[in-house]
Amino acid sequence: MAQKDIVAIVLAAGKGTRMQSRLPKVMHSLLGKPMLCWCLDNLKGFKKVYAVIGPGQSVVSAFLKTHYKNVRPVYQKKQLGSGDALRCTQGALKSFNGNMLVLYADNPLFEISTIKKLIQRHILSSAACTLATAVLENPKGYGRIIRDDKNCISRIVEENDCLSYQSEIKEINSGLFCFKKDKLFKALKNLMPDNKKKEFYLTDVVKILADSGESLESITLTDTDQIQGINTVQDLAKANEIMRKRLLLKFIRQGITIIDPASTFISPDAKVGQGTVINPFCVIEGDVRIGKKCVVGPFCHLRGGTVIADEATVGNFTEVVRSQIGKRTLMKHFSYIGDCRVGVNANIGAGTVVANFNGRKKNKTYIGDRAFVGSDTVLVAPVKLGEGAATGAGSVVLAGKNIPKNKTAVGVPARVIGGLR
Ligand code: UD1
Ligand code: CA
Repeated sequence: MAQKDIVAIVLAAGKGTRMQSRLPKVMHSLLGKPMLCWCLDNLKGFKKVYAVIGPGQSVVSAFLKTHYKNVRPVYQKKQLGSGDALRCTQGALKSFNGNMLVLYADNPLFEISTIKKLIQRHILSSAACTLATAVLENPKGYGRIIRDDKNCISRIVEENDCLSYQSEIKEINSGLFCFKKDKLFKALKNLMPDNKKKEFYLTDVVKILADSGESLESITLTDTDQIQGINTVQDLAKANEIMRKRLLLKFIRQGITIIDPASTFISPDAKVGQGTVINPFCVIEGDVRIGKKCVVGPFCHLRGGTVIADEATVGNFTEVVRSQIGKRTLMKHFSYIGDCRVGVNANIGAGTVVANFNGRKKNKTYIGDRAFVGSDTVLVAPVKLGEGAATGAGSVVLAGKNIPKNKTAVGVPARVIGGLR
């Protein structure tokens, strides 16, 4: 049995009180996209995916409708706890009888390999419930795993309800479960809110199953970064840092040189070609594409919609947005290029600025192959520099003025003075 036979449920309805924000917790950004996405992106191969959403969280359902059409929303009318949230899926799952994967949307750092490992253990062991645990030096905040004298899991005790000896237990519930559907829903019926928070805890299902003689299995995660849950803004900062480093490692393994990982930020949606060097203090956002053997930075900001072709240089203090930079083009020092297409082998001189916004709309600029833009040139969009065209240092090329192929323009406002450079 593979993922395609398993239904996945993402619990996302919690109030997120500890985030101290009106935005539903699962919409807070983790490395540039809502944390909910990280969880859902792991679930593409599943039979069906349901997300439990809380009252007043229409921003979450609208987001799903736009970006995750295959994810079915289920509404929890009152946030009575994680167990109650799962209970809300009963109607939707009426005709399903198989295995279920249950995840918390605020635990977005699990890798797909971990999820697969959990499922495999669950299927092979035929347990009623299989969960992922971890042993933490500092287990504070997590539910503690209680095992009996045969080392079988007998219950989970939440931090708030721990007796002092239980607080010392270092094995914790990481928040990733597999269940046999019929056994789970039978146990959910017997949940009681008999804990300090007066909530229906999903974790109490574990005790109910164990007490009725059902078998429980577990896998223990050694990569404890994956279990970082997000309850507070501090947790979110920790999760961002873990994710950022994980992603940079992926790029490094693909043959990209990142000189200083500590000061480099690359979007998960960006693509970078082999042999490219990313110097310190660079921020690469959105869907940026960078070719092979390019040089980026130091201090470079590449924004969405940017494509940098092979062997190009976007050097220090440069910003590029919604633009294409052609092969082997050099843009080495302090420039802003926006809504622009730059050809191959062009040279963008130090201090070049494309004035792409006239206060009302963004306009386009074309800079042809082999063009030579002199230092401190301002190109007031829309403008077009033909192939091999040049500007003198300090030129201001006004909107609508084109510099023909192989011609040079100088001055303020710039005028064409002659032929080939
Ligand atoms: C939970 C676990 C804890 C585990 C930890 C791992 C419970 C009771 N405890 O604690 O054992 O160590 O995660 O990070 O599950 N939710 C709803 N509706 C509700 C309440 C919660 O959908 O009414 C969802 C939340 O959106 C969240 C998840 O359930 O995704 C867990 O709730 P949360 O309150 O964050 O539990 P923790 O205290 O983190
Ligand atoms: Ca949580």
